[in-house]
Amino acid sequence: MRKKIIAGNWKMNKTASEAAALIEEIKAELKGVSGVDVVVCPPAIDLKDAAAAVEGSNVGLGAQNIHWAESGAFTGEISASMLTDIGVKYVIVGHSERRQYFGETNETVNKRTKAALAAGLIPLVCVGETLEERDSGQMESVVINQVRESLADLGDDLPSIVVAYEPIWAIGTGRTATPAQAQEVHALIRRTLAEISSGNVANIVRIQYGGSMKPDNAVELLGQPDIDGGLIGGAALQAESFAAIVKAAI
Ligand code: 13P
Repeated sequence: MRKKIIAGNWKMNKTASEAAALIEEIKAELKGVSGVDVVVCPPAIDLKDAAAAVEGSNVGLGAQNIHWAESGAFTGEISASMLTDIGVKYVIVGHSERRQYFGETNETVNKRTKAALAAGLIPLVCVGETLEERDSGQMESVVINQVRESLADLGDDLPSIVVAYEPIWAIGTGRTATPAQAQEVHALIRRTLAEISSGNVANIVRIQYGGSMKPDNAVELLGQPDIDGGLIGGAALQAESFAAIVKAAI
C-alpha cells in the first residue's frame, strides 16, 4: 500500500512572513491528522522561515527547484546542500512552468533529479502533456518520453522518487482531468516505470496528480488505484482548502 502524498506548490506566491503564517494555519488545521505525507513548497527565499515554522510538526518542507552542481558560477541557482542545510526534505523538479518558461528539458530535469537524490532529498518529478499534444493524439508518446528521459539511470534510487502527472491544460484553468482520464495516464506512467526498472519498483513509486485539484474533486481523483496523492497549486494557498484535500487522502 503506497502512502499518499499531498504537496502544495505555492509557485511565486507568499512572502516569508506570509509563508510562516500560512504554515501555522495549516498545522492547526491538520492537528491530529496522520497517515498521509504532507508537504509545502514555498518560494526559495521563504524556505528558512518556513523551516522554522514546520519544525516539530508533520508538515514536510520542499523547494521548487534545485541545481545539479554542488556549487559554482550559476547565478540565481540553489544547490542541494543549501536546501538540506536548512531542513528541506523534498524538491519539485521539472514543473511544466519551468519547462515552458525557463528552458527546462528532460535532460536538465534528469540532472536535477540525480542531484536531489544524491543529497537525500525526495524529488517530485513533473511530467504532463499540453492540450495540443493531447488533441493531436501524442499524449502517450510525450508522457512516456518524459518519464523515460527525466528518470533515466536512477538505479537503486528510483523507488525514492515521486512522479507528478500534471496535464498542462488542467493547471490553473479550473479544468480538471476526469478521474478516468487521470487514472489512464497514471497507469501508463506506472507501466513505463515497470519497463525501466525491475522487481516491485514500479509498484512502490508514488504518482501524484496535479491540475486544478480542489476539495470537491479530490476524493474521487485520490480514489483511483494509481493516483497516490496530489500536487496542489491554487488550492494550497489557503489552509482550509489545502487541509481539506489532505483529509480527502486519508
Ligand atoms: P493548480 O492546482 O493551480 O491547477 O496548479 C497545479 C500545479 O501546477 C501544481 O504544481
